[in-house]
Amino acid sequence: MPLLLDAADPAAVAQAAQRLAAGALVGLPTETVYGLAANADDATAVRRIFDAKGRPADHPLIVHVAPDDPRAAIDAYAREVPGFAQRLITAFWPGPLTLILPRREGVAAVAAGGQDSIGLRCPAHPVAQAVLRAAAKQGVRGLAAPSANRFGRVSPTTAQHVVEEFTDLGDDALLVLDGGACTVGIESTIVDCTRGAPVLLRPGMLTPAQIEAAAGQPLRERDEAAPRASGTLESHYAPRAKVRLMDAKQLRAAFQVLGDDAKHIALYARSPIEAARGAPRRRMPENAAATAQELFAVLRELDATGVRLIWVETPPDSAEWDGVRDRLNRAAA
Ligand code: TXA
Ligand code: MG
Repeated sequence: MPLLLDAADPAAVAQAAQRLAAGALVGLPTETVYGLAANADDATAVRRIFDAKGRPADHPLIVHVAPDDPRAAIDAYAREVPGFAQRLITAFWPGPLTLILPRREGVAAVAAGGQDSIGLRCPAHPVAQAVLRAAAKQGVRGLAAPSANRFGRVSPTTAQHVVEEFTDLGDDALLVLDGGACTVGIESTIVDCTRGAPVLLRPGMLTPAQIEAAAGQPLRERDEAAPRASGTLESHYAPRAKVRLMDAKQLRAAFQVLGDDAKHIALYARSPIEAARGAPRRRMPENAAATAQELFAVLRELDATGVRLIWVETPPDSAEWDGVRDRLNRAAA
């Protein structure tokens, strides 16, 4: 079992930094989801991330940098920073925004999964920042950290989720810092800044309008040649149970037809809907931020009841729900 330590204990943060400097893996909280971190400049350590996740080596990882001197941190990994990217950094860092920038030659090649670009993010979570700072004192410039889940599965938003994902890793192979539940709850918004104009690769809790306002120019449509992102695979974030999205009317009709036969179908809906007696259910919050915050934990919880189906009410059509809608569509794919 991984070693689970309370992040409020300064000794735990110090131990995490030491382990990272020595090439080991650390599970740590960020404001979005928990990450599985390793020294981004240590190829052997970064390969441990790919092994632990079962993630193909050509799926690039995000490198996390400390908040104190973001420009120096960016310059360590990126060859150039276009003006609109700099404006996004000023507006949203530290925070749930990842920028894809042209990669400085020869650095963090394994983390970048062979791309000539690099994903950079400066997290807002105090524990992530404390670990980044402590590791920096030991010569670690950045932490490669994908979400701390097995490839293709639901991202973790609590330390317990991370431990459950990696029970096969021993306490010497993985230290997990418990910093409580993540506040954003879905992964960062990813903006590709290598194409002359900002391109949205993965929606998150920042809306396109917010990104365009801060960048000072419109988002450009994604094209075929956009670099791959596993968060953009059609089927991802999937629980074991099958997820299906329906509107309230469809849900009511389906439950009515099935009656008590539907007690093995879990329900996650905003609208009042009469599910089968005994069926596991959770009420979806009215607002997107609260739904994002609990989404992955709810999917895990409903999944753990052993149901074969999870029926979810389709989120509203508005831009604030883009991130939640995207994750649910992928969970259902
Ligand atoms: O909120 C987050 O972004 C979390 C926390 C831990 O920071 N991390 C996260 O990492 O979601 P991951 O690896 O699960 O997703 C990162 C996404 C992947 O879809 C990856 O393909 C994409 O970022 N990505 C990273 N570097 C890239 C690059 N150079 N070009 C294109 N996509 C890249
Ligand atoms: Mg992920």
